[in-house]
Amino acid sequence: MRTIEWRNGAVFTLDQTKLPLETVTLEITTIDQMAEAIRSLRIRGAPLLGAAAAFALALKAYHAQAASSTALLSELEHTAKVIRSTRPTAVNLFWAVDRILSKAQDFSGNIDALKAFVVQEAQRIADEDAEANRAIGKNGAELIKDGDVVLTHCNAGELATVEYGTALGVIRAAVGQGKKIKVIATETRPLLQGARLTAYELKRDGIPVTLITDNMVGYVMHKGLVDCVVVGADRIVQDAVFNKIGTFTVAVLAKEHDVPFYVAAPKSTFDLQHKAADIVIEERNPLEVTSFGGRQVAANGVSVLNPAFDATPLKYVSAIICESRVYSKKDFAKFKTKDAM
Ligand code: MRU
Repeated sequence: MRTIEWRNGAVFTLDQTKLPLETVTLEITTIDQMAEAIRSLRIRGAPLLGAAAAFALALKAYHAQAASSTALLSELEHTAKVIRSTRPTAVNLFWAVDRILSKAQDFSGNIDALKAFVVQEAQRIADEDAEANRAIGKNGAELIKDGDVVLTHCNAGELATVEYGTALGVIRAAVGQGKKIKVIATETRPLLQGARLTAYELKRDGIPVTLITDNMVGYVMHKGLVDCVVVGADRIVQDAVFNKIGTFTVAVLAKEHDVPFYVAAPKSTFDLQHKAADIVIEERNPLEVTSFGGRQVAANGVSVLNPAFDATPLKYVSAIICESRVYSKKDFAKFKTKDAM
């Protein structure tokens, strides 16, 4: 099922803040609506953010009143600025905006042709993500053995992508090969993407899933209940993988217990120009930490840290699965060189 769709000048997607209790479809027709949906995590997950950013430019092009290609380009640049300011960490959002803008700048047709081109390019980005996830699933399934219990953190499923999922794509593909797989999903405080989205997707698809709170990861690994970890990524740099806060803790625990730690992500998530120290980690509203289920749980005025992501150094990562291949530990050194990909 497609998580995001373009139909006649509008973007249709689910409001992920309402799942799993309500299924509410958003119809987005303006840049402000798209920026709000991204900031509030109605739309979330790195590859889906890439597609949403691309469709924001498509919305601008489709509805533009601009009289010339030059005027349209400057409106697209303004839209790009708005979208870039929504969330700083997932690189897919920046990658999609940059890809469309640079192609639009090189485009030589008239304004109507440019409008159509931007819409088509956004659609191509979405289609490519759907295709990449199937390939990631196929490559990653080779690492999963029949009978494995796979632990995953946050939601790197269909809902975080255009279709199928990255980490959950690997699990889906392994199940598709007839392997009996069970999943342990962490709830993923503070916004509960694991409890609300991963557990929902897997349950819906009939894949056995057990939900745990984040602080149970050490317990399940120590008990020998986990055969491997598969997570997604928001940005892969020369020396680390950025993913939902808590991923680093899971990775350290996995290393301590000799549990393989796999990352599944499309090439649009790779940012090998940068090192971990260069990357801005989104800091979110303290209310997400001081409250639970909409109810205040901490004393008034307590000081809070609320980073949305952390960086897992590559020494904790066993392999990175992308659409073209699986990068094993010995390949990671090449991430610092230009010919890595
Ligand atoms: O804050 P979110 O929900 O956008 O964070 C999402 C994650 O951290 C996912 O694990 C990541 O984007 C990979 S999704 C295929």
